[in-house]
Formats: sequence, structure tokens, C-alpha cells
Amino acid sequence: MKKFTALLLAAVLATGLLTACGNGGAGENAAENAGQETTDTPDAAAGEDAQDSGEENADAQEDSAEASGSEDADGVDTQDGTEEVSPVLADGKLTVGTNAEFPPFEFVGDDGEPDGFDVALIKAIGEKLGVEVEMENMEFDALVASIGSKIDIAIAGMTVSDERKKSVDFSDPYYDALQYVILPEGSEIATFDDLAGKTIGVQLGTTGDFIASDDVDGATVKQYNKGVDAVNDLVNGRLDCVIIDKNPALVFAGKFEGQLTAVDGAQFGFEVENYAIAIPKGDSALLNAVNGALKEIREDGTFDELVKTYIEN
Ligand code: ARG
Repeated sequence: MKKFTALLLAAVLATGLLTACGNGGAGENAAENAGQETTDTPDAAAGEDAQDSGEENADAQEDSAEASGSEDADGVDTQDGTEEVSPVLADGKLTVGTNAEFPPFEFVGDDGEPDGFDVALIKAIGEKLGVEVEMENMEFDALVASIGSKIDIAIAGMTVSDERKKSVDFSDPYYDALQYVILPEGSEIATFDDLAGKTIGVQLGTTGDFIASDDVDGATVKQYNKGVDAVNDLVNGRLDCVIIDKNPALVFAGKFEGQLTAVDGAQFGFEVENYAIAIPKGDSALLNAVNGALKEIREDGTFDELVKTYIEN
């Protein structure tokens, strides 16, 4: 009943605006506004429907841009042939948030600047889009909330999650990941059930944190701003284990050979995660531009080069 009322309201609104504007172009905007109207209603189902159709529209737009053979990655081709450029790209500068405490995806290089796979990837995307990339190093837990204010977008080995999708949109995924468990040599922990009641170190606000805090029974979870600090506490005997993404786990445990081992999260039943770039919610021009550039980077071999340079080395 509520849903029906919301849809009816949306329809009336759309019709009203259509009549008032009297042309097709503005009518599209009216429909969009009406869609947002239903999203704001307490009826989640109606809101979702409205959102879904919005996503399909974005996909359709992308497809038609591809079909027309457009080489342009920096905008969305609209029906009248003009190009819709995201306000984020319009000033020629892209401010990208990261947390450079996550090797090999991001770390602070010898020159004191963020480096790593993600940094190289976003710079390559910036080049395709013809914008200058400026990296902003900040705490991981602050990234999502800073999009749209302090930073334009974020790349930080960030896992796509429904919770984060409430605040941001995600690009196409660019890398598969899995949580790993770093253990002291000789630890008896071997399965998910063994984690119950243990003292677990995590990086604050990460998926490893969510597993330890939400899923493991009776664990004492110690949250660190830097994963490496958790690993140091593990070496010092203050923790039973650290839960962190595979590649950083391998890098961190590798620094303490003979003392620590990084164990595959599949053994603990952890699910595969996808890394993607977080962008402002609703900026479909930017989303399409980033996805277009990412696609080109995969197709022209740049992506594989970066994997070889940063991850497989
Ligand atoms: N993939 C995990 C997540 O999204 C951890 C990411 C941590 N990234 C970082 N740059 N510190 O929650």
C-alpha cells in the first residue's frame, strides 16, 4: 500500500514536471527527481526499485557509448551528442584518498609519497582521463566519509560492501582478495572455531575488523590504525593472531620469517572480496569515465604490467 502510494506520488510528480517543462530533455530530469523522491520514502522496496532502474540506465548509457565506438573515457555520451563531464573531473584535478599502510597496494615510498599498485593504477586512470592525480594519505577508516569533501575518490584496496554502498558507489572491481590469518609459528589456531575467545588484531574499519568484531564468538578485538602495528604486537606476544587481507599479510609475515606465518583464509571459511574504487554516490558520469579507463588499462596490457611490478614481485 505504501509502495503504491509512493509510486503514484512519483508518477504524479513526474507528469507534473513533464507538463511544466514541456520537453523531453527536462522530462528525463523530472523522472530522475521523481525516482529520488521514492528513494526517500520509508518503503525500502520502492526505493530499491527506483535505484535499480537508475543503475540500468547507467549501464545502458555505457553500452551505447561503447557501441558507438567512443574512445573517450572522460565523459558520458548523451543522446543529443554532447558529453556529460563529471564535476569532479571538470577542474582537471582528481584528489584521491588512500591509506598508504597496505603493501603492496599502497605504502609510503622512499620519497615520502604514496606508492604501490593502487597508486600506479589510479595515476594510469588519471592519464587516460586527462586529469592530474593528487594523492591524499589518510586513515583508512576516514576514507568513505571524506569522499565528496576532502577527497574526490578513494583507492585503498577497498572491498566492495553493502554497508559502504550506502554512502558511495564503486567502480568495476579490479582485484580479488581474501582475508588471511597471521599466526605466531606453532600456534594451535587452525579453523574458524579456534578463533573464538582469542585476542585478535585488526586494522580499524576494515573487513578483517568486521569479521573479528561481528562474526567471531567472544573475541577480544584490538583495532589499530595501521596493520603493521597489529603485526608488531603479534610478534611481541600481545595478540593471538591478526586478520588482514592476503597480500599485506604475506608482506608483513614475510618480514618475520621463522616467527610468523600467514594462513589462507579459505581454511577459515572466509569469502572472496573484491577491491574497487570508491566514488561519490550518484555521479554516473564519473563512474562511467573511471570504468572506461579501467577497461582500456586492462585491454592495453597496463594492468598486467602493474600486477607484475607491484604484486608478483
Ligand atoms: N580490504 C579491506 C577493506 O576494505 C582492507 C583495506 C585496507 N586498506 C588500506 N589501504 N589500509 O576493509
